[in-house]
Amino acid sequence: MDNCAQSLASSSSSPASWGTSSPVTTPELSDDGFDIDRPPSPFGGGGSIDGTDWTDGASPTFILVIGGLGYIGSHTVLELLREGYNVCIVDNLGNSFDSVLINIKTLIARHCREKGSSVPLIHFHRLDYRSRSMRFLLDSYSDVVRIKDASGKQRLTYRSRIAGVIHFAAYKSVAESITEPLRYYQNNVCGLVTLLQRLNHYGIHNFIFSSSATVYGAMASAGLPLREDNLLHQPEEIVDEEVAARQPSGPMGLTCPYARSKYFAEAILADTAAANPAWRIVALRYFNPVGCDPSGLLGENPRAEATNLYPVIAQVLTGTRPRLDVFGSDWSTRDGTAVRDFVHVLDVARGHISALAWNAAQKPAKSGIGRFRAFNLGSGSGTTVLEAVQSLEAAAGRSIPLNLTGRRPGDVGFCVASSERAQKELGWFPRESVGQCAKDLWNYLQRERGMA
Ligand SMILES: NC(=O)c1ccc[n+]([C@@H]2O[C@H](COP(=O)([O-])OP(=O)(O)OC[C@H]3O[C@@H](n4cnc5c(N)ncnc54)[C@H](O)[C@@H]3O)[C@@H](O)[C@H]2O)c1
Repeated sequence: MDNCAQSLASSSSSPASWGTSSPVTTPELSDDGFDIDRPPSPFGGGGSIDGTDWTDGASPTFILVIGGLGYIGSHTVLELLREGYNVCIVDNLGNSFDSVLINIKTLIARHCREKGSSVPLIHFHRLDYRSRSMRFLLDSYSDVVRIKDASGKQRLTYRSRIAGVIHFAAYKSVAESITEPLRYYQNNVCGLVTLLQRLNHYGIHNFIFSSSATVYGAMASAGLPLREDNLLHQPEEIVDEEVAARQPSGPMGLTCPYARSKYFAEAILADTAAANPAWRIVALRYFNPVGCDPSGLLGENPRAEATNLYPVIAQVLTGTRPRLDVFGSDWSTRDGTAVRDFVHVLDVARGHISALAWNAAQKPAKSGIGRFRAFNLGSGSGTTVLEAVQSLEAAAGRSIPLNLTGRRPGDVGFCVASSERAQKELGWFPRESVGQCAKDLWNYLQRERGMA
């Protein structure tokens, strides 16, 4: 059953009551067609991403953040608000808590007080993004405007006040995806298809997708920094001769249904863009987002069992787990443990804002197709599991008991990003070190869990 549409909070004017009636009286509409036209937006979506209203009136524009109360989503929402964007959050709280919203509001109020600026709008809808209520929500962010067509005749049309969409909502446990693949494909793939149809329906085409380094599968074991053109969905001109010689192709050795769900989602997005010139789609392939906002008010606090390295270490530090299992100490790395690319979650959050702006700046391609582009979000440098542990030991001033155990099936010894493309094209540079990630995480744990 759908979760009830529920606006838990809004900092000022609430959106129209999308759960009951939309601003426009429309008959029951199919997902593929409206009975009135929508004009193409210069932003591939419903408005400018800098918060400027282009809908002829006082209606503000929003960035829709789906899964916006989760770990990466909440930090991205905070960064968007700090940059002055109005944000509309959709989350079913399946893996998050509504207290996150309160903390976001506290932090942005503090930020705006210090800057002497006004607080952007924050709308929250507790909702499964796959539910039919999503349509009513999108409806409530649509304005009806009068335009003149080529023959000078006046017509009514919709313009969405959603200027861009960032889609975080997905299940993310590798182990769970192996035992419950259909649940994963339903949320991570089927849900995405319905969402894209609905967004297209409302003329919203600036779309940022949460992908993952897992799409590189077995390519990671080559021991080289992973480049976006190691995995392409559509032919792309490869400028680097060395890479062209290696001629990358389809996915290799995807290790689990979770990884496949991200690969399928990317392929669907690439095909969608290829079929419709209005789309501007970016897939951000995150490596290992860690750390949290330095305030200690936002962090990684899932309802589901923690499986990523840092949250598991946090459990050891807080006494929830007796020790940390380190899987594999015989990799050919500097200390035998696996090498990963840890990137601060606030750097990842900023990457989304760069990607929204990049999308908005894209001109229609000459070929008449839309744009799909993948970018790695990683620090570009490798840290072993033991080094990560040491950084947290240094931040906490405590030692972390370890249990060195065997490799897990599907694990790779080395997974590091090339962040060149994101730096060149998005102008995105990771700013924070692994040490800072550890400090911020420890600060969060102390505040959240009331530790000394
Ligand atoms: N955290 C990582 O290390 C990592 C790495 C690579 C990719 N990713 C991807 O990034 C995204 C966000 O990851 P995260 O770590 O913030 O996860 P998270 O579980 O903390 O956040 C996801 C949020 O989406 C919500 N959600 C899930 N399904 C939903 C649905 N059907 N309708 C509405 N809300 C729904 C959850 O309640 C949660 O608040 C995911 O797509 C994940 O696969 C994460």
